[in-house]
Amino acid sequence: MIYHENILFTIGETPLVKLNKITSGLKPTILAKMESLNPGGSIKDRMALYILEKARREGKLKPGGTIVEATSGNTGVAIAMYGAVMGYRVIITVIDKISQEKLDHLRAFGAEVVMVKGTLADRDRKAKEIAESIEGAFYVDQHENYGNVEAHYYLTGPEIWRQTQGKITHFVAGMGTGGTLMGVCKYLKEMNPEIKCICVDPEGSVFYDYYQSGRIVNPKDYEIEGLGDERILPIIDFSIIDRMIKVTDRDAFLLTRRLAKEEGVFAGGSAGANLYGALKVAQDLDPGDVVVTVIPDTGFKYLSKIFNDSWMRKKGFLPEK
Ligand SMILES: Cc1ncc(COP(=O)(O)O)c(C=O)c1O
Repeated sequence: MIYHENILFTIGETPLVKLNKITSGLKPTILAKMESLNPGGSIKDRMALYILEKARREGKLKPGGTIVEATSGNTGVAIAMYGAVMGYRVIITVIDKISQEKLDHLRAFGAEVVMVKGTLADRDRKAKEIAESIEGAFYVDQHENYGNVEAHYYLTGPEIWRQTQGKITHFVAGMGTGGTLMGVCKYLKEMNPEIKCICVDPEGSVFYDYYQSGRIVNPKDYEIEGLGDERILPIIDFSIIDRMIKVTDRDAFLLTRRLAKEEGVFAGGSAGANLYGALKVAQDLDPGDVVVTVIPDTGFKYLSKIFNDSWMRKKGFLPEK
């Protein structure tokens, strides 16, 4: 019999898929790392498994204990899935921008969800408070836990290197916590310092201006889930980034819809944002170049938003009928 011991063993080793139509007229090969195919439906499965298994080995996560985290949803889903398999109580704090699908997904795995009205910093503070109030609770702290970067340095980066047989020339991805971009780029640049790392940042997030000028501008609201932030995060090393590209909600979401219609790739809004960056970078490249970007999560999490025409119209991302 060929089977996995449990669902957690199916995390990672995601396929790399060539994009064919949406890239027409561009010279390089553009490949998508299909993180949406992880069992929790996102790239966050990898780092949750990595951090929680490390905590378990080190005795920080005790049998029957509680795991607490602040998250835009996907990390929570990954932790909740881990908790369901391994028998831990899971408490997740979120802000109200979270899509209904992600909320329902969290609850499907049995997580307790605490909705915080306020900023991302308020959400993180609440998680810390909850963790401190429960004896022996483990606070994952993806924004400050370097295990988040290590997961991608030891797993995602080497997979991309192997899958492209070392031919990758450009890696393009946005940053939420920065775990993906930092971990993957650190590994790839160690393998070949010529590889360029390009970050995509939503309009309204503070990363773009900080990278360009060192200034921290006032954040503005935006709809892309999982990318950007209203503050500068400690695990991000901006010196690894070779270029930063700004993307609007509209451009990201229209490309997300095209990904489904033209490539059959059903993804979330951050995939559209990443693709926007990849297409922009590819404009100046040659046939021998290989651009890899990331599909961070599945479109199933956004059926009521990006794939809902009336929501898209209400937000002004599609013209009125
Ligand atoms: C949908 C989505 N896209 C992209 C990211 C960015 O990943 P990272 O936190 O590794 O920068 C996240 C994570 O928060 C996410 O949930």
